[in-house]
Amino acid sequence: MKSAPVVSRRSFLAHIARSGGAAAAFAALDALGCASLAWGEDLAYRGPPVLPGGLGKGKRVTILGAGVAGLTAAYQLGKAGFACAVLEARHRPGGRSWTVRGGDRFEQSDGVQQARWPKAPHLYLNPGPARISHHHRAVLGYCREFGVPLEIMMNDDRAALLQDDGVFGGKPVQARQVLGDTRGYFGELLGKAVSTGKLDQELSQQDRERLLGAIASFGDLQRDGRYAGSARSGYSATPAPGLPHGAVRAPLPLEQLLRADFWQFKASFAEDFDQAGTMLQPVGGMDRFPMAFARRVGPVIRYDTVVDEIRKTAQGARVVCHRGGNHIVIDSDYVICTLPLSVLRGIPNDFTPAYRQAIAEVEYARSAKTAFYAPRRFWEQDDGIYGGLSWTSRDVTQILYPSHGIGQADGVLVGSYCFGAFPGDDMGQYPLAERIEKALAAGEAIHPGYRRMVRDGVNIAWPKVPYSLGSWAEWKPEQYDTVYQLLQQPDGPIYFAGEYLGYLSSWQEGAVLSAHHVIEQLAARVRA
Ligand code: ALA
Repeated sequence: MKSAPVVSRRSFLAHIARSGGAAAAFAALDALGCASLAWGEDLAYRGPPVLPGGLGKGKRVTILGAGVAGLTAAYQLGKAGFACAVLEARHRPGGRSWTVRGGDRFEQSDGVQQARWPKAPHLYLNPGPARISHHHRAVLGYCREFGVPLEIMMNDDRAALLQDDGVFGGKPVQARQVLGDTRGYFGELLGKAVSTGKLDQELSQQDRERLLGAIASFGDLQRDGRYAGSARSGYSATPAPGLPHGAVRAPLPLEQLLRADFWQFKASFAEDFDQAGTMLQPVGGMDRFPMAFARRVGPVIRYDTVVDEIRKTAQGARVVCHRGGNHIVIDSDYVICTLPLSVLRGIPNDFTPAYRQAIAEVEYARSAKTAFYAPRRFWEQDDGIYGGLSWTSRDVTQILYPSHGIGQADGVLVGSYCFGAFPGDDMGQYPLAERIEKALAAGEAIHPGYRRMVRDGVNIAWPKVPYSLGSWAEWKPEQYDTVYQLLQQPDGPIYFAGEYLGYLSSWQEGAVLSAHHVIEQLAARVRA
């Protein structure tokens, strides 16, 4: 889910900060050329590769997969005159970038499901990618180029809830309360440490005073440095005419807050570099993005075409595939393989042993999402939640409230989304009925009465989705120096691209950037 290069740079800076303090970390950033722009790297994107129009004349490229990487490659290479054929096993483009709408049927290894909710523009589920970050400049660039309208995807909401079976009697608490009270307690504790001289070694007198001032604001502390609750955490009686000050909620007990499972990542999810409080989504469903590509790439995409073999030949590469009962052999100069490694490793091939080993060893996350139809948007009407995420300690992990259709009568909410990247975090291991039941039970713990308020559940468990067999590559840090590097290079005439090679794995941005990388390599080879 996270890309190792970002983490390693972060940990490098953290190490410097530990040993030399913040000034040393800033000096190191300066040396890396990004002190004034700590986010400079992600804004360095200068657009897709620009290839001369006739560069690909007479060159044939077979692209395996019409997901975001395959579509990007086909679009750019097509513009440069390459003769591309895109082989896509499904009946639609987009791969994991997919939207399920009312009435849609889909198949997984444990059966066929149908979204039984009504058909309407605001009633959909994005089972795969569902958010685009402000720094996904390649994806955003294509959305602009293709005129794909975007809207805000609320990724964080202080009115949403956190629920842990082990604390607060299993009752949900509002995010604003958890965050407000935690800041208050942490501020009070840090203030005590400063005031009693515990940090004298670390801080100058002037910095101690500044820190105490900052903490008072950070934690909304009393004049004497105590935390005694804050309106930030909400009210037990909201101010109203006749009750001008209201009654601020009593702070949650610190001991229970510390015991809660919120701190692994849940309460700080939106702080992550990959995430943000507000993200973006295409209006009408994530598949609007690959659809826009597919319209431009046009008839070179051959749908319902399943790859059976990938071979090397004296002139280039051969792909053996079938469409229905038809056996098809396609020879070309190059192949760009954008199939997930989880699928690729099952296809007979002529890869050299190092590549075969690499393709075999990368693990895929086992994420799964449930969606429910709600005839009434109870989260908005009863709880004041307009988009954002609630979290639970159960397998279900989270509920995502739709940012689209706000104010409509009905909606489709994501009733579970486990990342499938942690031990035991695999909803898909359970039969479908059990997955739905788990989502209902967790929903009931977060929103009492949930079972009566939602219906028509569907669950997509990515390891069970044909032609995906997993959600995204879950790199181990050491693999970035080995397998990751190897797969960045072609194996003879065969190139690899996909979210897993894009620096930001698990994101469409990674798929686009990795396709750009391959296009540049291929262009250099053709030029030479
Ligand atoms: N990129 C994936 C998400 O945001 C992991 O959920």
